[in-house]
Amino acid sequence: MAEKRSLWGSKIGFLLAAIGSAVGLGNIWRFSYMAYENGGGAFLIPYLVALLCAGVPLMILEYSLGHREKASPPLAFARINPLWEPLGWWMPVVAFFGINLFYAAVIGWCINYFGLSLTLGWGTDTQSFFFGEFLQLSDSPFTLGGIRWPVLAATAGAWAICWTICYREVSRGIEKASMIFMPLLVILTLILVGWSLRLDGAREAIREFYLKADLSKIALNTAEGRKVWVAAFGQIFFTLSLGFGIMITYASYLPKKTDITGNALTTCILNCLYSIIAGFAVFGTIGFMANAKGVPFDEAITSGPGLAFVVYPEAINQLPILNQLFGALFFLVLIVAGISSMISLTEAFSCSICDKFVISRQKATTIICSLGLIGSIPFTTRAGLLILDIADHFINNYALIIGGILECILIGWLLKSQVMRRHVNNSGGIRLWPVWDICIRVITPAVLLIMLVGALLEDFT
Ligand code: PFF
Ligand code: NA
Repeated sequence: MAEKRSLWGSKIGFLLAAIGSAVGLGNIWRFSYMAYENGGGAFLIPYLVALLCAGVPLMILEYSLGHREKASPPLAFARINPLWEPLGWWMPVVAFFGINLFYAAVIGWCINYFGLSLTLGWGTDTQSFFFGEFLQLSDSPFTLGGIRWPVLAATAGAWAICWTICYREVSRGIEKASMIFMPLLVILTLILVGWSLRLDGAREAIREFYLKADLSKIALNTAEGRKVWVAAFGQIFFTLSLGFGIMITYASYLPKKTDITGNALTTCILNCLYSIIAGFAVFGTIGFMANAKGVPFDEAITSGPGLAFVVYPEAINQLPILNQLFGALFFLVLIVAGISSMISLTEAFSCSICDKFVISRQKATTIICSLGLIGSIPFTTRAGLLILDIADHFINNYALIIGGILECILIGWLLKSQVMRRHVNNSGGIRLWPVWDICIRVITPAVLLIMLVGALLEDFT
């Protein structure tokens, strides 16, 4: 507390760190699958609507809150109203225990698979290799026994990298890492996309399943159509790392004169652009695989981890040349995208602790990363994938949404959104229009409430 608050060294450093948090595993495997399931190109309509009327406004809200209070979530909320400090803790704590612990384990899988890709060590039956030999998946989340040592070792590696980066001052740690990771990620991704587009059957699959718009899937007069809209909003929150206090924390290190609106727009647009571009690689590669094996596309594609650890290895097996290189490239992309999101989750929690207690950044980071490693252990056991699904479901359907609603109420109604808008406009940069108030006070919380009720109905009826 006594120390002077850290600052980003440059505008671009902050932007790259924020984009690094947003662009993660979700951009690669979550977005593509959602687009596929929900009308292909037509999914872009609810996706972009969600981006504009909830994603961008909430990003501006989180940036402006962190910037105005110069504090991590607990302290920032407490300054507006001391009664709200618990909400400030809820966000980074959920982010840490609910996402970071399993995110680290999944990065661990990616590190293992990076190694495996060098020898195509997953063999010919990639499905039974992943669930059987690699995870040795048990049948119940309660049979915790059996740590998968290679997974634990790689997960520890991910935590070690995270610790090395977050241990240093923001401008020499996270900022520097982002300045290396982000350009690297862009280059690797573009190579992967270019390569995928040249594969046999890639373009047909992209045209048929990614770009072709099936508008009937998003019709608002059907129950299925409405579900797609809700799913699009959910994806926007997750993909932009909103509702976890991360963007509040990152913005707390910004200098006084800052273009908040412009930065928020840039972060949102580049994150979504990354998803859309990565989609070409995913659809292209799966299209190639389906073509090579003579199976329909619908049977080839799966969601979540299966996409990266079963379908991709299968596609890599089928490549005519340089299979190992393609595999290494793909898993490296996942590792870089994953680590830059992982450091943001860690930073939000450790900054919250530093702001509240008299403890140095170094000490806080060390404690948190050790705690994180211990907390990740359950995800490296034979039941890991099962508890991961449970955690993921709880976070996306409840924790994130509750955080988002309360955030809107606090800023929109208790503080009054006009006060915050004035702060944004006094900080310079692109002017924030009054429609923002309507988004924060009415539209965003209403949509979130609909999602929450929808999830409750689905789970408990
Ligand atoms: N935005 C990341 C992704 O799309 O993969 C995931 C994420 C990171 C979510 C950090 C939430 C978060 F706080
Ligand atoms: Na994202």
